[in-house]
Amino acid sequence: MDFKGKVAVITGGASGIGRSVALALAKLGTDIVVADLDDTRLGEVRKEIEGMGRRALAVHCDVLKDADIDNLAEETFKTMSKVDILFNNAGVSIRGRMENISMKDWEWIVGINLFGVVRGIHAFLPHMLERGSGYIINTASGNGLVGSEPPAVASEGIPYTASKFGVVGLSEGLFGYLRPQGIMVSVLCPALVRTSIATNARYIMSDSEKKAKLQDAEKLFTKNMGKAADALDVMESDDAAQLVIKSMEEKRFFIITHESQYEHLMRRGQDYRKLEKYLQDAFGK
Ligand SMILES: NC(=O)c1ccc[n+]([C@@H]2O[C@H](COP(=O)([O-])OP(=O)(O)OC[C@H]3O[C@@H](n4cnc5c(N)ncnc54)[C@H](O)[C@@H]3O)[C@@H](O)[C@H]2O)c1
Repeated sequence: MDFKGKVAVITGGASGIGRSVALALAKLGTDIVVADLDDTRLGEVRKEIEGMGRRALAVHCDVLKDADIDNLAEETFKTMSKVDILFNNAGVSIRGRMENISMKDWEWIVGINLFGVVRGIHAFLPHMLERGSGYIINTASGNGLVGSEPPAVASEGIPYTASKFGVVGLSEGLFGYLRPQGIMVSVLCPALVRTSIATNARYIMSDSEKKAKLQDAEKLFTKNMGKAADALDVMESDDAAQLVIKSMEEKRFFIITHESQYEHLMRRGQDYRKLEKYLQDAFGK
């Protein structure tokens, strides 16, 4: 795939994986539209991209809001005239026990993680269909592939897992629908990538429990846990970005950051009875 002269729109592009992909694509000659809630970091990324000699547009955008996504599309077409790559990447996490998660919190996380992706597609797909080309990458998670095994922590991450399963299902459906129409779709399923995801999360728990969770996350993000549990090895966001680029070049549907995720996929893919047995053995009775 030739990235030169292409235009990419990246939500959640001010930090972490989104920022790394923005910079990696800009290095390859792509002009970038970064969209995010964080105006300060947005401005910094825009300057970095311009410093690389590429055109850059930074748009304040809350993917929870239809009007913000409409505005993102309007500003993008006004400035860049086209979109070749849509990276629906903005995402958030909630940690808390199922019984303590309010409907408002559910609406927040599903509204960003799943409907944010739907909104992006809604806004940009007609343009891609008209041109008969384009590349859509949706960020799900390793937790979008497995609900109950590492890296998912089912008891405290159920809303996150549910929203990310939605993104995987949406992406699979889109792949089948759009591939014959010249549009490629991939789903990015990171396991553990060093970013601000843990500090940006909502914690539905006491302050002391939240402090302990943040300390755990800090530990996870600062050291690798050893070979036995590669799902818990930390990947740098710049390396995740390189994987995204390589996977786009190879037109791969699943972009998987950690080898051990394939085991989880196989357990699902081979035979649901094996998954059933695994769940019984691990959590049953
Ligand atoms: N880091 C990991 O280990 C990991 C693992 C699995 C999945 N993911 C997914 O990767 C994606 C990127 O996250 P990250 O790890 O780079 O974290 P991050 O917190 O560093 O980046 C996320 C960005 O999204 C932005 N954002 C949050 N809510 C938004 C909204 N409503 N509208 C627009 N922008 C919004 C944030 O301001 C931030 O800049 C997310 O979808 C996340 O769920 C990350």
